[in-house]
Amino acid sequence: MTDKNDPDEMPRGLARGLTNYGDRDFSLYLRRSFAKSMGYSDEMLERPIVGIVNTASGYNNCHRGLPELIEAVKRGVLTSGGLPIEFPTISLGEVFLNPTSLMFRNLMAMDTEEMIRAQPMDAVVLVGGCDKTVPAQLMGAASADLPALQLVAGPMMTGRYEGERLGACTDCRRFWADFRAGRVDAARISEIEGNLATTFGTCAVMGTASTMACIAETLGMTLPGTAAIPAVHADRLRAAEATGAQALETARLGLTPSRLITEQAVENALRVLLALGGSTNGILHLTAIAGRMGIQISLLRLNELSDTTPVLVNLKPTGVGYMEDFHAAGAMGTLLRELAPVLHLDCLSVTGETLGERLKSAPGHVDRAVIRSREEPFEAVGGLVALFGNLAPGGAILKRSAADPALFESTGRAVVFTSLEDLADRIDSDDLDVKADDILVLQNAGPKSPSGMPEAGYIPIPKKLAQAGVRDMVRISDCRMSGTAFGTIVLHVTPEAAVGGAIGLVQNGDEISLSIANKSLILNINEEELERRRQATPPRPATPDRGYAKLYADHVTQADQGADFDFLMASP
Ligand code: FES
Repeated sequence: MTDKNDPDEMPRGLARGLTNYGDRDFSLYLRRSFAKSMGYSDEMLERPIVGIVNTASGYNNCHRGLPELIEAVKRGVLTSGGLPIEFPTISLGEVFLNPTSLMFRNLMAMDTEEMIRAQPMDAVVLVGGCDKTVPAQLMGAASADLPALQLVAGPMMTGRYEGERLGACTDCRRFWADFRAGRVDAARISEIEGNLATTFGTCAVMGTASTMACIAETLGMTLPGTAAIPAVHADRLRAAEATGAQALETARLGLTPSRLITEQAVENALRVLLALGGSTNGILHLTAIAGRMGIQISLLRLNELSDTTPVLVNLKPTGVGYMEDFHAAGAMGTLLRELAPVLHLDCLSVTGETLGERLKSAPGHVDRAVIRSREEPFEAVGGLVALFGNLAPGGAILKRSAADPALFESTGRAVVFTSLEDLADRIDSDDLDVKADDILVLQNAGPKSPSGMPEAGYIPIPKKLAQAGVRDMVRISDCRMSGTAFGTIVLHVTPEAAVGGAIGLVQNGDEISLSIANKSLILNINEEELERRRQATPPRPATPDRGYAKLYADHVTQADQGADFDFLMASP
């Protein structure tokens, strides 16, 4: 009698998950026959299989180096006695997708989950890096719950322009703001355009891709020490080979994502997000990943952690450095050592080692200009803070480490844009009634809006104010912003306008109060007036009638739930 739950009794390699023809032996015979058509020997077809997810695409500049990386993974798998089999999933090149890559993160997660589950493999290496890729792969792998190892693409190197070091994409935004304000002319911006992203790899700063790579390492889903290795560095290829070589051991140890992505590991990842001064998207994606394990992230808990976790990393957009500096400064090993007193050290990684065991190794070189000690932090409190109030009963997020402290306690007059189209039409109009101490509000750009929560929360400073020297204003929306952006920008307002949230009821001239000290976001309108407006202002959610857009509109959750699909989240 065989026990289906005994690993020794479970089919492995090509015999896993047979195609159903009603005759198991025939199914395996046919599968082996077709596999042999690809030139595999019997010896290879007897081996356990490591699937390798390939997310390279002509529409994804960040993943241009993946073919070489995957060859290195294969070398590692072969040396460990496995058969590496590469397979594609969709690829999400951040700047090539309309209306926004976030809309396709859940599609990629479904693709990843279903292909891991449907195809025969004993372990899987997830290769990718661009913003939505690592979240999608971790979400999919978490739901599939097969032993999985994340291998990130690695960050781009910086370029040079007139002696200045540049990296995508904090510098992209800084120069664009200068161009809008008339401080940079058209010829110069065109030259700069060619010097911002000069190698393959993910954005060079602590944007979303870098943040998620560091979160993946903190969750134990990568090999230790691999999150920050630059994409073009030879160590990146060695990390790929080592990841391939580790995969079958991870499977042998039964280290499925559900054993790694625990409540404690998620809390560690929140600490790291805060200490990095990481992307605001990081909280959205981590919430979605945790949600696949039935773990709920409370924004109130985020605030507690934020008040006791200093920012230790001096990278753009919070500070001045780039990811290559973080790598050279000691990277995640150094950061985790600094945070160790507040981390859960029993959490496991794909190696089977606990975090505490990992951190016992010698620290190596540390550059304190890039990674500060807890005693001398870059900022005393964490990078992100959640805000609550009648304007955001379900919470909103502000990256205080990349905001102007002079605006932390602000009360101002609302200047409202009712949609992205309205924003594009009027933001630079000479007739726009706006002053530097006003608060810009963008409505109808959340998950259920027609735009699907794009990175439009970095509302441009109105041209006439930019030209007058204004560099920051309080901006509020129900959408997101790029992890590479900076400014006093309130995002992810929940509930969003498209489902009747109060942000959709704000009118020009209303008074709004932001207080970082109180962690509050208040629309200074009484409840009766708000209710009157609610009755008179029906929500305007997207109503596509077919395809993936309909699936998305019908099932995407609010930002505080990670904007995952309701039917993919696990029960708490
Ligand atoms: Fe791919 Fe920034 S565009 S990480």
